[in-house]
Amino acid sequence: MSENHPSPECPESEHEIRTRLIHGHSPTERWDFSHHVVPPQSCSAAFRLDSVERGAQGFLDFAHTPEGDTRRVPIYVYDRLDDPNRGMLEDNLATAEGGDMALAFASGMAAISATLGTLMRSGDHLVAHKVLYGCTYSLITNWLPRLRMEASLVDMTDPSAVRAAINPQTRVLYFETPVNPDLTLIDIAEMRKIADEVNANRPDDCKVRVVVDNTFATPFCQRPIEHGADIVCCSLTKAIGGFGTDIGGAVIGPKWLHDPLVFYRKDFGGSLAPRSAWPTLVYGLPSLATRMVNYQSSAMRVATFLNDHPKVERVLYPGLESFPQYQLAQKQMRDYRNRFAPGSMVYFDVKDEDSTGKPAAKLIDWIAQHSYCITLAVSLGQIKTLIECPYNMTHSSLPDAEKRERGVVPGGCRISIGLEDRDDIINDLKLALDRI
Ligand SMILES: Cc1ncc(COP(=O)(O)O)c(C=O)c1O
Repeated sequence: MSENHPSPECPESEHEIRTRLIHGHSPTERWDFSHHVVPPQSCSAAFRLDSVERGAQGFLDFAHTPEGDTRRVPIYVYDRLDDPNRGMLEDNLATAEGGDMALAFASGMAAISATLGTLMRSGDHLVAHKVLYGCTYSLITNWLPRLRMEASLVDMTDPSAVRAAINPQTRVLYFETPVNPDLTLIDIAEMRKIADEVNANRPDDCKVRVVVDNTFATPFCQRPIEHGADIVCCSLTKAIGGFGTDIGGAVIGPKWLHDPLVFYRKDFGGSLAPRSAWPTLVYGLPSLATRMVNYQSSAMRVATFLNDHPKVERVLYPGLESFPQYQLAQKQMRDYRNRFAPGSMVYFDVKDEDSTGKPAAKLIDWIAQHSYCITLAVSLGQIKTLIECPYNMTHSSLPDAEKRERGVVPGGCRISIGLEDRDDIINDLKLALDRI
């Protein structure tokens, strides 16, 4: 037994079975991360401390990272603060995105709200793209104003609109790229340029930070930090988790963000549960590259099929040469070997002369009832192909006028390509389109 383990004066064998069933042969040497091929699941709300001094040190060290050492092994005290599985996942997420550090949250929304809550104070302002995932839009327009944090929602494809929206209180430029759901791209390097211009005369605590939601692309297809973003947020529930079994989120960024963000997470409480960190660590992240390669080669075929179909008005997929921002897609969306990586998401409008959305609803309802390999569901990035109608579902909280102005119309369908045989996916879409 190592010297860190206590030696009970009254031996285990002299205790009642009832007591021994609780404590087992404990402490044990069986817990050994360095020799497991697959890390064991850590499911311990609290951690045994050897002494008051060690406990006190654990609290003292928390959110006080020694310079440059965000990946150190902490003194584990309580799961909400830090945990082995979550910590291992965080190290790997930082590597995947090319950030100094990562922190994992209970959901993508917990990650986004913690990022904004850490970067902004009452009276501060953010500039965001006018089309966002519905709950992010709701967070920014319903909840932040209660904390006296204001937002300007502008078209961030237009740099002059972004410059015009920035004021002395602006602390964050926030956007998704590709944007959920219509796959509009925002030029990350351009946003960096604008932030640098504004920051030139600002002290550190007033600087504008560029925050990118990289959920749609995943770090396999795009690493925003390489293009100048300060911070990346993402939902782990989607392609990083990959199998649709767990909700989670992450923030990846520079060292200076670690301590305030982990402090925020401790007090607001949105830490990723280790039981959800484990599958993402063991199945999701390790299989991301393999899945993305398959997803996107099928996505290209599906997008091409839809593009040629007479009942389809418009197809938006960054891999199509007809994509309005094809050049930017080629610049920004590159995989780890620098190959073009346009991702797994396709958006298309069904022909709909009266703009009622009825043909799209008919198509999706037919799929929901009769398709074998396409499922009507609002998530994305899973091994199953999922379809939904953003106008009425994921983006229902956005005002109609904003949606229509950006081309998110009732007839729009968002499809997240899975790992099925691509001909089966195309055949189910063909059958559905034949019915409308
Ligand atoms: C682009 C984007 N960001 C954030 C989220 C929120 O993630 P979660 O559902 O894990 O909270 C979603 C969810 O769909 C999303 O699509």
